Amino acid sequence: MKNILLLSISLTLLIGCHPKQSYILKSPNTLNTIHISLQKKNLIYSINSDSITIIEASRMGMLLKEFDLSSFTSLHMIEHSVCDTSWETIWGENKMIGDHHVRALFEASNAKHKLHIEIKTFNDGIAFRYIIPEQGMDSLNLMNELTEFNINNNPTYWWIEADYDSYERLYKKSHINEIDSAHTPLTAKFDNSKYIAIHEAALVNYASMTLKNNGTGFECNLVPWPDGVKVKTARTLTSPWRVIIIGDNAGDLIESDMILNLNQPNKLEDTEWIEPMRYMGIWWDMHLQTKTWHEGEKHGATTDYAMQMIDFASLHGFKGLLVEGWNTGWEEWRNWDFTKPYADFDIEKVQQYAIEKNMTLIGHHETGGRVSTEYEPQMQAAFEYYAQLGIKAVKTGYVGKIDNGQYHHGQWMVNHYQRVLETAAKEKIALIAHEPIKDTGLRRTWPNFLAREGVRGQEYNAWGNPSNPAEHTTIIPFTRGLAGPTDFTPGAFRMTLEEYRGENFSSRIPTTLAKQLALYVTIYSPVQMACDLPKHYQEHMDMFKFIKDVPVDWETSKVIHAEIGEYLTIARKDRTSDNWYLGSITNENGRTLNLELNFLNKNQTYKAIIYKDGENADWKSNPYEYNIESMTVDFSKTMELNLAPGGGCAIEFIALQKGEL
Ligand code: NOJ
Ligand code: CA
Repeated sequence: MKNILLLSISLTLLIGCHPKQSYILKSPNTLNTIHISLQKKNLIYSINSDSITIIEASRMGMLLKEFDLSSFTSLHMIEHSVCDTSWETIWGENKMIGDHHVRALFEASNAKHKLHIEIKTFNDGIAFRYIIPEQGMDSLNLMNELTEFNINNNPTYWWIEADYDSYERLYKKSHINEIDSAHTPLTAKFDNSKYIAIHEAALVNYASMTLKNNGTGFECNLVPWPDGVKVKTARTLTSPWRVIIIGDNAGDLIESDMILNLNQPNKLEDTEWIEPMRYMGIWWDMHLQTKTWHEGEKHGATTDYAMQMIDFASLHGFKGLLVEGWNTGWEEWRNWDFTKPYADFDIEKVQQYAIEKNMTLIGHHETGGRVSTEYEPQMQAAFEYYAQLGIKAVKTGYVGKIDNGQYHHGQWMVNHYQRVLETAAKEKIALIAHEPIKDTGLRRTWPNFLAREGVRGQEYNAWGNPSNPAEHTTIIPFTRGLAGPTDFTPGAFRMTLEEYRGENFSSRIPTTLAKQLALYVTIYSPVQMACDLPKHYQEHMDMFKFIKDVPVDWETSKVIHAEIGEYLTIARKDRTSDNWYLGSITNENGRTLNLELNFLNKNQTYKAIIYKDGENADWKSNPYEYNIESMTVDFSKTMELNLAPGGGCAIEFIALQKGEL
């Protein structure tokens, strides 16, 4: 009864022939609204923001092999509450995160069965999920989730096609008529200036959601098992959250904390061992083809080369060295042994050397997709092996089809990625997953999940045909980046690669040197690689200084300028000092952005060190022209950021002690 009374505060009961079958739930600031109702037995929702329709009447529901949850005769609200709290991150873009939402649980039922729908409304969007409570079945087979997203107003989308195995695509910009299917996060801009992104949160023991154009809008299309079933569970089922992030500008999408707020709190008792870090690797060499993963004359993972890399990396303050091609199996991409180093790689000696230099190796498990036959059987031993060597982080990889016919993004693999995560956590090892399942905020619950690839990363600039266009990195933070930390691997200092790949080689890095620095701030990750070779850094040690200084863990993050596919400026405050760092990037067009420094602390003077494009810099014709300037600034100042075509600017604001200039 108490609940029902509460309803009158934030709910309006609509009058109809079936009272209590239509409900409106508002966000705490009352601007975002979801309307859920039964219409001709269909469960229908719509979403408004500022009285603009974002999602028109769209279906909810589920079809199971065992019973039907697609049509209902009644809809009741059974719980309602308001939450206004905040929590501290173990690491992240922000130290504190506010969680202010209104929550309601609905029960839709038909003659025999019931479905629960949990809704949370936030000031930055709306989310809902399905819960099938226990109703006398030992197993459930979900054949279809009926969720629709009938997005109003024909907005412009940034999207990649919904390949069930990969996210490594270039983003396209179009209206819905050109989209057949899309991955989430799917980002859209309305003519009336609203921005939205559709994604999911807490993808656990379920299949990944892709979006299919069904003629009137998008419908949820879950990645199937080989037998066509979408999700298999015992007795009950909880879907991930279906999330609609809503903003008034593109930067609001990046600043939204909804995805994290919709995940469970941290489950790890001890998190001391989880270390955000900058790392280097025996890696770019293989992508440039100067070294090989497999043993032989050009083998990358040798004891000597690893020790040389540790010398350079430790001298410049890096904490990790990734070594790929260290274990047997690379000749054929099969018969991987995850505890057997190649004969020319003395892993114990190398790791000992790393520890002496205040570093650690970052391990590597490339599965080549041989997950069920080779990786799962060795997984426990593989993590124990690294743990006893004192290795704190492992990069995983899933190149190629999965060996048992499952898709990378189906429920079986979602559960596999989870098994890896939990096995790693038990051994106190953090993860960086390549060819992953997309992030859905699980890093809150499992903070040892540091980062994922799941993007057409820097490596495509070494061999992609075509390489990534200049605009690519001005799209990623608004799309892939909304899912979570991205292991893009910035820091390329040699932009053209003919000397390695032959005269007619056309792939290249599509940025100026200054833009590579700015990416450390605009692409968020708690593990940031400096991907290039020491000899290339040695040519520009003055610019390398920014990579050495830039933190990977932040107290606060603010988006300053943002337009998808055009430009982006983000400022972040270091978690352990009073310093701020700023990255600003543009697409292939040069531009000037006016920067107000009002994000800085008001009672503080800073030395700004500005790493910027030179006057005639241009990603194509003149990528290496840059200037480094210093000046004293405070919050009242403004600056002009002159970004070259394909260029960028990185700024370090070092808090000065009183009297220091
Ligand atoms: C693809 C990954 O993205 C890349 O980083 C790695 O070097 C290769 N696979 C080999 O594992
Ligand atoms: Ca990859």
